[in-house]
Amino acid sequence: MAWEIKNLRDLSEHERLEAGRVLVEAMAHVPHAWPDLRAAMAEVSEFLGDPTRIAFAALEDGRVRGWIGALRHSKFAWELHPLVVDPAHQRKGWGSRLLEALEKAAREAGVITIWLGADDEFGGTNLYGTDLYPDVLGRLQKLAATSGHPFTFYQRHGYVVSGVLPNVNGFGKHDILMTKRL
Ligand SMILES: CC(C)(COP(=O)(O)OP(=O)(O)OC[C@H]1O[C@@H](n2cnc3c(N)ncnc32)[C@H](O)[C@@H]1OP(=O)(O)O)[C@@H](O)C(=O)NCCC(=O)NCCS
Repeated sequence: MAWEIKNLRDLSEHERLEAGRVLVEAMAHVPHAWPDLRAAMAEVSEFLGDPTRIAFAALEDGRVRGWIGALRHSKFAWELHPLVVDPAHQRKGWGSRLLEALEKAAREAGVITIWLGADDEFGGTNLYGTDLYPDVLGRLQKLAATSGHPFTFYQRHGYVVSGVLPNVNGFGKHDILMTKRL
């Protein structure tokens, strides 16, 4: 197989559409996130037009397998958003390759911290649907995956659970904050 990582800005029009499709399909378990290709292409366009954003796509034999983006909030900290792999090609290393590409770019830019919010809006962890108060951090320490939440993917890559934003997506739908020191 021939594969490459390309800056999102260097994709052809067709490849950009593929990136939009991958975003819709990979996030189908959170239907309001990017409900259709139009919403996804608006997100892709943000990365093409906004100089504070950076994104990379992974291509295999010319087909987009996934893409990763980041918001360059400061000289020292980038927010990873989003990371998506075509559902038909997950668990084949594409997510890991994309993460490595982003971290390489961040290191080269002098970034110290990459952070991300890993929402649980679909019941992927044992915190879903529960009230975290009053001992929010105590509950967070008992975090565990119940059905395929990606926070364990990030843990495998050195990311640490560093906080939680309770109920920010509705009651019991928390955003799990993760960070990595590069
Ligand atoms: C999470 C995601 C980016 C991982 O990409 P990937 O290409 O499937 O991951 P890789 O093949 O590089 O690594 C897979 C490993 O990560 C771990 N992992 C943990 N949670 C996972 C999940 N939800 N999906 C895939 N792998 C997961 C597993 O250990 C897995 O190894 P295994 O297959 O031997 O069990 C991808 O599954 C995806 O796009 N998911 C939907 C969108 C999403 O949730 N994005 C993250 C938002 S914060």
